[in-house]
Amino acid sequence: MSFASHPLILGIESSCDDTSAAVIRGPSVLSNVVANQALHAEVGGVVPEWASRAHLAKISPVVQSALDKAEILASELDAVAYTLGPGLQGSLHVGASFAKALAWALGIPSIPVHHMRAHILAHVLEPGPPPAYPFLCLTVSGGHTQLVKVNHPNDMEVLGQTLDDAAGEAFDKVAKLIGLSYPGGPLVDSLSANGNPDAFSFSRPRMKGYNWSFSGLKTQVLNFLKQAQEKDSNFVQKRQADICASVQAAILDMLMTPLCQAVEDTGITEVAIAGGVSANSGLRARLGQMQVERDWEVHIPPMDYCTDNAAMIAAVGWLDMASELRGELDASPSPRLPELTSLAVSGAG
Ligand code: KG4
Ligand code: ZN
Repeated sequence: MSFASHPLILGIESSCDDTSAAVIRGPSVLSNVVANQALHAEVGGVVPEWASRAHLAKISPVVQSALDKAEILASELDAVAYTLGPGLQGSLHVGASFAKALAWALGIPSIPVHHMRAHILAHVLEPGPPPAYPFLCLTVSGGHTQLVKVNHPNDMEVLGQTLDDAAGEAFDKVAKLIGLSYPGGPLVDSLSANGNPDAFSFSRPRMKGYNWSFSGLKTQVLNFLKQAQEKDSNFVQKRQADICASVQAAILDMLMTPLCQAVEDTGITEVAIAGGVSANSGLRARLGQMQVERDWEVHIPPMDYCTDNAAMIAAVGWLDMASELRGELDASPSPRLPELTSLAVSGAG
C-alpha cells in the first residue's frame, strides 16, 4: 500500500481518565491530543462518575483540536476508531457514542477497538521500526499485566498474566501508602532516581508459568512501614526515595523474570513493552540492558504512546480496515471483553 493510499483515521479513547483524540494516516501520526483529568488526584484514585462527566465536557473540544492540529476537516476522514473496552462503563459510553454518531453522520465506518490490543499495536506507529512477527509483548498498565505472544495483529496469545493486582496498580497502591498522589507510578519512578534500590528488601514471589501476583507486595510494604514508623514517626519522609527505589526494584525484578523465561522457552528475541508502566525509566533501562547483553531486539514505545492515547486506537482502526474489518453501530461498550481479539467484523457497514 502506498503512503497516499492509507486511510485517514480519527481515533477516540475514553476508557479511563484520559480523554484523547488522534488523527493518523497509516503509521504517520498527524495529531494526538490527550486531556488528562487532574480532578481525581485529590482522592487517590479514579472516581467513575466524575470521569464520565469530564469525558462528556472534553470530548468535543478534544476531537476538534485533533482535527485542527492535523489540519484536516472531519469530512476528509475515512473512518472513526474508538475504544469499546475494557474500561469504565460510563467513560467508554461517552467515547463510543460520540464516535459512532460522528461516523454515522459522515457516512464512514466506525471501528470498535480492544484497548489492550491497541497498547500492543501502538508499536506499528512511527517512528518505529515496528516489531517483526512473532514478538513477545509485556503489557503493563493500571488495569492489566500480560505477557502476550503476538503472531499477527489479529492473532495474539496471552502466555501469562497477573492473578490479582496489575503492575501499575502495585505502583499506585504503594505510592498511596507513602502519601503520594494518584497516579503514583510516575512519582515513584522519579523519586527512585535518588534512592538506593537495595536499601530495603521486599520478597519477589514467583507464580506458576508466566503469571504474576502483586497483591502481596502492598501488604508487605504496609507491614514494613508500620514497624518502621513505630520506631521513627518521620521514617517515610526521611527515606521516601529509598522506599520508592526498593519497591520499584522488586516490581521490575518480578516483571522481568517471566519475560526472560518466555524468551528462553520460545526462542523469540523480538521483545516489546506497552502500557502505562512502560513509561517507567527503570523498566526501559532493563530492556535496554537485555538488548546489549542478550541480543534481544527491543521495542520501547515513545512516551506519548505508553499511557492512554488515541493514536494507538486509530492504529488498530487502520490495521483492521486493512484486513477489511468494520464495526457495527450496535457494538456495545463493555468493561470486560474477550482477550485481545479484533472487535470489528468482516464486511459489515
Ligand atoms: O495504560 P495506562 O495509561 O492506563 C490503563 O490502561 O491502566 O496506565 C496507567 C498506569 C498507572 O498505574 C500509572 O501509575 C502507571 O501506568 N505509570 C507508571 C509510570 N507512568 C505511568 N508506573 C511506573 N512508572 C511510570 N513512569
Ligand atoms: Zn491503557
